[in-house]
Amino acid sequence: RVPVSALLQRPADAIGRAQQAPHAKIPLPADLFAPERRNSRGVEFGERAALDGLLTDVKAAAAELKPVADATPDQANAAVTTARAGFTAWSRTPAGTRAAALEQAAHLLEARSARFIALLQAEGGKTLDDALSELREAADFCRYYAAQGRKLFGNDAAMPGPTGESNVLSLRGRGVFVAISPWNFPLAIFLGQVTAALMAGNSVVAKPAEQTPRIAREAVALLHEAGIPRSALHLVTGDGRIGGVLTAHPDVAGVVFTGSTEVARQINRTLAAKDGPIVPLIAETGGINAMIADATALPEQVADDVVTSAFRSAGQRCSALRLLFVQEDVADRMIEMIAGAARELKIGDPADVATHVGPVIDDEAKQRLDTHIARMKREARMHFAGTAPDGCFVAPHIFELKEAGQLTEEVFGPILHVARYRAENLARVLESIARTGYGLTLGIHSRIDDTIEAIVDRVQVGNIYVNRNMIGAVVGVQPFGGSGLSGTGPKAGGPHYLARFATEQTVTINT
Ligand code: NAD
Ligand code: ALA
Repeated sequence: RVPVSALLQRPADAIGRAQQAPHAKIPLPADLFAPERRNSRGVEFGERAALDGLLTDVKAAAAELKPVADATPDQANAAVTTARAGFTAWSRTPAGTRAAALEQAAHLLEARSARFIALLQAEGGKTLDDALSELREAADFCRYYAAQGRKLFGNDAAMPGPTGESNVLSLRGRGVFVAISPWNFPLAIFLGQVTAALMAGNSVVAKPAEQTPRIAREAVALLHEAGIPRSALHLVTGDGRIGGVLTAHPDVAGVVFTGSTEVARQINRTLAAKDGPIVPLIAETGGINAMIADATALPEQVADDVVTSAFRSAGQRCSALRLLFVQEDVADRMIEMIAGAARELKIGDPADVATHVGPVIDDEAKQRLDTHIARMKREARMHFAGTAPDGCFVAPHIFELKEAGQLTEEVFGPILHVARYRAENLARVLESIARTGYGLTLGIHSRIDDTIEAIVDRVQVGNIYVNRNMIGAVVGVQPFGGSGLSGTGPKAGGPHYLARFATEQTVTINT
């Protein structure tokens, strides 16, 4: 049996494993998502064996999942107080020691991949392919922030100055950081936030989404085991009310949040209403992400990339495609091909390796999406409706809008909206993208360099993908995050991220 760790290997020259490693080179079930590729090329023998072993481990691990109780407000407040006490020692721990703990965490994650895949499937409803890529991303965050942190926090920077004076700039932790995360990347985003804040010398109180506390609990236990002191990292479970208690606490020095724009605003208001120091908020939120496909694009590639971008992970990615603009001249053919590709998707049990689209996160999400589908059936033209089993599943749908402005909010599921445009009206397409107020991801499919350049030049969007799908940003390769209603920046998995978790201090000495 091939060890599970073989499934997670990346090219040996990759930095923080990911820094130089394009996702495409990572050997393994990235291919599993595309059934036609799996059928024509087959899963290689070694991979197949590893997969079988992995699935056995996953089933065994899933059987032992235990529930997690919510914290009370008193416990939440106590966690901040204890984290405040733990801050001094942790912030004085050498950067190299902090980085080594994160590297050990990456190692432990990979060593326990079956366990974490089981959690991601059982609690997060992830397909095997999604669970694997999330596990890789989580390990990449640990290694990337460790590598960045050694550079940034390991050496104070000597600044130029007049003779007889030395000037040194250093970065240090702010204090207690509250890290609030969503359910859709319950391991990678949870660990990305926490490890960045820790690497920068902060102590952390982490509040995962109420839907995915078990993954968070195991991730925190793993970080403690990897060398993060218990006093420096605390887990507080519960829903938005507990998040509200944490953000309102007077000892909080910073908040990192990933989730909806509405909650980011709420947290902003809570922080602004407090007396005392001004508390920074790093917020990464949603998007009404568009793709523009013109008449020069390759229709087969567009179909493949649209289906992946809109329907993978049941559309529950902040990066996912919501609104496709297709040039009128090729629209009928392209929509037909996209619908044809969507028809091939298998929707159902995420533990089945053949599944492309798993469940949505909970009944509330399903109800919201069903309501939107019902509205679209009345107000738009339906080109495709997949079939989903009973339970918490939403089948992929494709609706053509009369005009792009019909889509006014992020629809967080496998629903693709399409709008036609005439070549001479490309500027109007860019205006309607700007009018959404979001700026997270954008896809462009075109073979005309001038068109691509003009679009890139005019849009204010954090991550732009040209002639490929628009999801799955790789840590250190495609730093991720947007602007406007999509967040404050800096980009997660990028070189400017850690500094925002720190304060800067300049010491000038008259020598
Ligand atoms: P959400 O905003 O409902 O919840 C996110 C977190 O905030 C949860 O832990 C929740 O308990 C907490 N929370 C809720 N109310 C709070 C309050 N008043 N004070 C403090 N904390 C509070 O989001 P969700 O449904 O978990 O996740 C989906 C959303 O996340 C989508 O909008 C998606 O686009 C976004 N997202 C963005 C990114 C990104 O990197 N930009 C990544 C993943 C998800
Ligand atoms: N980083 C995730 C993606 O790019 C959200 O899909």
